Amino acid sequence: MTALAMVAEFDDVAGWTADAVEQLGRRHAIPATCRGSASPAALAWLAEACELALGMRLLDVGAGAGGPAAWAAERFGVQPILVEPMPAAGRAASRLFGLPVLAADGRRIPLRTGSVDAAWCLGVLCTVRDKAAVLGEIHRVLRPGASLGLLVVVARGPQLLPVPEGNHFPTRRELLSLLAGAGFEVVEQIDPPTGAPLSWSRRAEQVAAVVATRHRADPAYALAAHQGERFTRLFASGQIAVRLIHAVSRPAGHPFKPRMEER
Ligand SMILES: C[S@@+](CC[C@H](N)C(=O)[O-])C[C@H]1O[C@@H](n2cnc3c(N)ncnc32)[C@H](O)[C@@H]1O
Repeated sequence: MTALAMVAEFDDVAGWTADAVEQLGRRHAIPATCRGSASPAALAWLAEACELALGMRLLDVGAGAGGPAAWAAERFGVQPILVEPMPAAGRAASRLFGLPVLAADGRRIPLRTGSVDAAWCLGVLCTVRDKAAVLGEIHRVLRPGASLGLLVVVARGPQLLPVPEGNHFPTRRELLSLLAGAGFEVVEQIDPPTGAPLSWSRRAEQVAAVVATRHRADPAYALAAHQGERFTRLFASGQIAVRLIHAVSRPAGHPFKPRMEER
């Protein structure tokens, strides 16, 4: 993941967002830094599906500036561990939420085998070429039987419009096969619940407006905005969509028994 547009989108904007949150106030931090996951209803579905509980070690792979992990810590009392390769995004997560961030790639997570109780990976897989490597590594660090919550942008057919740079959308079928290959059993998958309430989206928009005012003239801002416009057009044309998935880590050697309930 080295495309300039992705650095602009995931690193520059994350740093600018943290600055803007510091200007506007702490209550803006979570809505402004949930970039791949969008709505609190989607996060709540994932948290309940994964049965998050007080003190659980929740790994968030591709955590960005930390909004989803901070939300889970605030609402469910989990202890998040963030993995994020983009330095300014990782710094934003520690600065805004005081969360521990490992500056690493999801293909090589610097944690012991079987050492985490649950994992999230939200809005990340479409930005990764080697999805099997990331899923395999998450499977390694999860304890057997532990939950994985995924938010994935999937292809609903061929993409006839320009795709945001560095993105490779799997089809639903490809995603299920990748999960099975990495040792996960899909329990349930759904289209995400409806969007965020105004109380949430207004705070995110206020932060975005401060970022725009300060950085509109920066070439990185234009690159990130261009990525966003491509996403918007692909979603609007129905060529891509979001899926929420709850899977569990099968112990090594455990035979695969499909038990997915699809809605
Ligand atoms: C759309 S953002 C989502 C951020 C966060 N999960 C959220 O929901 O707000 C995608 C994130 O995936 C990260 N990412 C991309 N490739 C990665 C990889 N190989 N390993 C770990 N993270 C990666 C990016 O740096 C970026 O922060």
